Amino acid sequence: MLGLFDSGLGGLTVLRAVRAALPDEEIVFLADQAHVPYGDRNEEELVALLQANIAWLEAAGADAIVMACNTSCAVAQRHGWPIAGVRILDLIESAALAVTRRGLRDVAVIATTATVRTGAYGNALRARVPSMQVTEIAAPALVPLVEAGESEGERARAAVAEVCARVPASCEAVLLACTHFPVLDAHFAAALGPNVLRIDPAIVQAERAVALAIEAGSPRGHGRTRCVTTGDGARFAAQLEMILGKDPARASEAVRLEYGRDRKVR
Ligand code: DGL
Repeated sequence: MLGLFDSGLGGLTVLRAVRAALPDEEIVFLADQAHVPYGDRNEEELVALLQANIAWLEAAGADAIVMACNTSCAVAQRHGWPIAGVRILDLIESAALAVTRRGLRDVAVIATTATVRTGAYGNALRARVPSMQVTEIAAPALVPLVEAGESEGERARAAVAEVCARVPASCEAVLLACTHFPVLDAHFAAALGPNVLRIDPAIVQAERAVALAIEAGSPRGHGRTRCVTTGDGARFAAQLEMILGKDPARASEAVRLEYGRDRKVR
């Protein structure tokens, strides 16, 4: 069983890609909506949330974790991954692979404030191509719009346009380096125009999830998806249906998680 987590609905863009690539796999997806947005939190809180989310997924039966939150990966790059008994697929690695495969040399990374603060994307990209031009842009206004179900209106269009105006003209591509952002892709496409490539790291992440599942002996199930939120269960069920459509093989529920036994999380 694969385990995925995010602070909220963004991770569904990774879930969708993984589900399409692995139709039979059992998947458990955790949305930590009690603490969204992660991007405005400090690193101590983010480390505690990362530890708790991974521990919960392991306890729920996941035998590998497919990361669906860039902010958590960025913090893990700086502070280390928690000790876990399962393999963890880093989303930033997948994003870097997507960039280097295309031979890109000048990219903008649009991400949460916390991700940009770590410099994790710049580090990962320049570790592969030292001469890579990387512009990291924080976009804190976008996640709350997606969580509020306001991804289609004028407010979302204007917020994305404001972020894209900060992309240098020399950029060949923009990395959608927060999993909430592909939900706003139509606005990114309109603001960036046809000459700037938009990269969703979920595509390569799903490809690597297939390799991981094969190593572990796939196909391994009946394509069931268990979706869990730390927030409001009824609201989450409606949000799932809106973003992913109806699926009889999907069940959703709300749970309470114990965060930060030795670290404080608001
Ligand atoms: N979707 C997450 C990410 O990829 C976190 C967004 C947030 O909660 O700020 O970074």
